[in-house]
Formats: sequence, C-alpha cells, structure tokens
Amino acid sequence: MDTTSVNYPTSLISGNTFSESAQLSIRNVTKVFPGKQDWLSKISHQTSKDFVAIENITLDIEPNTFVTIIGPSGCGKSTLLNMIAGLSSVTAGEILLNGVPITGSGPDRGMVFQNYALMPWMTVEGNIRFAVETVYPKMSAQSIQRTIKEHIQLVGLTGAEKKHPHQLSGGMRQRVGIARALAINPQILLMDEPFGALDALTRGFLQDEIERIWEQERKTVIMITHSIEEALLLSDRIIMMTRGPAARVDEILEVPFPRPRNRELLDQHPAYHDLKVEMESHLFRETRAVEEARIRI
Ligand SMILES: Nc1ncnc2c1ncn2[C@@H]1O[C@H](COP(=O)(O)OP(=O)(O)OP(=O)(O)O)[C@@H](O)[C@H]1O
Ligand SMILES: [Mg+2]
Repeated sequence: MDTTSVNYPTSLISGNTFSESAQLSIRNVTKVFPGKQDWLSKISHQTSKDFVAIENITLDIEPNTFVTIIGPSGCGKSTLLNMIAGLSSVTAGEILLNGVPITGSGPDRGMVFQNYALMPWMTVEGNIRFAVETVYPKMSAQSIQRTIKEHIQLVGLTGAEKKHPHQLSGGMRQRVGIARALAINPQILLMDEPFGALDALTRGFLQDEIERIWEQERKTVIMITHSIEEALLLSDRIIMMTRGPAARVDEILEVPFPRPRNRELLDQHPAYHDLKVEMESHLFRETRAVEEARIRI
C-alpha cells in the first residue's frame, strides 16, 4: 500500500514507542510453547522442540477503540488474545492494563468464544446470572436482575430468557455469549472469531448488532476475524499479523470510515478499495508462504 495515503497512528505501530494514553500496552511479548523432552516422550519417540508462536510484539491500544486482528491461520492470534485475557502466560515481555501488568484473568476483560462456551444446563438468564454473581458477589438481587434484563434486551434476546442453549440457534447462542461478556461491565471486550461458526446471513445480522452495541457502549474491543469485510465494517484499526512461527505485527491499518457504519454504503468510501486490496495481498502473501513451507517439509 502507498503509505503516504494512510495515516498510521504512531502509538499503535509495533516498535518501541509507547503511548501514555494507552489502555492496553503489549510490550515485547513473546510466547514459547515448551516442547516435550521428558523421559516418557523420549522412550516413546514423541519428543518435540520448543515452539516460538509469537515473538517480540509491541502494541498499544487506546481506550474506546475497536481493533481487529487478522492473519493467516495458526499465526498466533488466539495465543495473543488468550494472553491479553490472562488465560495464558507470556514467556517474555509484559502486557499492561492501565499501566498494571496482567497476571491472570479478571472482570476488567470479558471474553466471547467462537464455540460460545455456554453452560448447557443453565438457561439464557442463568448463564448471564452466573457470570454477574461470580464477578459481583455482593450485588443486590434487584441489581443483578436489572443487569440481566438490560443485557438480554441489548442483544435482542427478550423472550428467550428461560431457554437452554440447546433450544437456541447458533446466532442466539452467540448473543448470549456477548450479553454474558458485557454484563460484567468489562473495560475491554475480547472476541475470538465470534461469528466464525455462523452462516453468512446470521453473521451479517450479528455484525450489525455488534456495530450498534459498540455505538451504544463504546468499549474497547479486540476481535479476531478471518473476514476482511468484517474487519473493515467494524474496526477503527486492523492489526495484520505475519505468519508463524515467531509471528509479528506486520502492519496496522487505520480505518477512516465515519460511524455509524452502513454496510451497503461502506464500499463507496474512497479508502475502501485500497484497504481491501492491501489486506487481501497481505493475507495471500502470508498464507502462500505458509503453504510453501509446508510443501518443503
Ligand atoms: N498449547 C499449545 N502448545 C503448543 N503449541 C500451541 C499451543 N497452542 C497453540 N499452539 C501453536 O501456536 C501457533 C499459534 O496458534 P493459535 O491458535 O494462536 O493460532 P491462530 O492464529 O489463532 O489460528 P486460527 O486462525 O487457526 O485460529 C500454532 O502453530 C499452534 O499450533
Ligand atoms: Mg485462533
């Protein structure tokens, strides 16, 4: 891409400059998954080397921004998100939330999973209640009920409160996942391919819902996606990762489209075509390199 045509925010560029106003600072983060070298692995010929999934990623994320992460399959997107969520530790470097290192999961970060991760024996209401009660054990019964109601309404599930996950469509299940994550009032919403398992139509509906909810709540969102159109519709910034092993941030795109966004009008924006082509060529280049490496093996 012609870099003169895109205004990259310096605070977001991978490097050693840090923004004072960053809500989340990822500093020189590396993740190594240890190989198996124990005696049992040796005698069963199952040894493996250490695997450097991501290497030396530095990134600052400002409050109230919608950030998407895109990159070839297996490059380390979920690894990075899980470290931000505190579900996985960093091997080197640190991740700071409001200047404080993240050492584990916490209610300041809400997570939405691709496979919904709902508790099947609980109703819609029960799933949300469980999250709220766990995070706020001292909250009054009245406030809990109000929070549940508000969030069921926010994601458009009013009427389905007493249903169990098996009685819901995939789209409805993911609405519960989103309501549950937002009901704990996190500072940052983390979403790992939240619409990956949905059909195109439901996906489109939910993208519009997320856009509407984001307009209303303006929370910082970090979302992984494989869809270029989805990233362009929703993001303020798009982080493009290189292939792994030792994946890095290759480039950060700023998405200049005004909000609220309308999917029908988006491609009429003068920057749309250039951004789309840039993302396509990045993904094509990185994925092709992964395939070539596989063929050489
Ligand atoms: N627990 C683990 N132990 C060893 N290697 C792992 C572990 N988890 C992930 N990996 C490896 O780290 C790399 C990054 O995995 P990750 O799941 O983060 O990729 P991803 O970008 O989210 O992929 P996808 O787009 O397919 O979801 C992969 O090569 C994966 O095999
Ligand atoms: Mg993943």
